[in-house]
Amino acid sequence: MAFFEWDDSIALGIPIIDEQHKALFDWVNRLNEAVKSGKGAETVGEVIWKLITYVTEHFSEEERLMLSCNFHGLAAHRKEHDQFVSRLREIQTDFIDGHEMGVSVLDFMVDWLVCHIKGTDQGYSRFIQQQAEKG
Ligand SMILES: [Fe+2]
Repeated sequence: MAFFEWDDSIALGIPIIDEQHKALFDWVNRLNEAVKSGKGAETVGEVIWKLITYVTEHFSEEERLMLSCNFHGLAAHRKEHDQFVSRLREIQTDFIDGHEMGVSVLDFMVDWLVCHIKGTDQGYSRFIQQQAEKG
């Protein structure tokens, strides 16, 4: 998979969240680059560690946002976040155990993020925007 390029089709219209989503893809792109350029295990290991740290911080921020506006879908949304983080931790563990990080892993990350943002994240984004319109 080529580098993921952000475009407006995945923008939610909540500036702080859109910026964080862009940063998430930047981390995946950095990981892609580290894997493809054959950089050492130390570099790849460091990038995946930072990626997971960023993902967990971003998910916490989204969940705080949903909580602050009493969004009814928080529990289901959090479950999706938790499943993705668990999968990332498995990928990290496999890598530490000496398994090579394949392209399919990077494709999985990009696909999951795009699908989650366009689907699940759109749900809370619409809710927040409707609440704002009601005033
Ligand atoms: Fe989300």
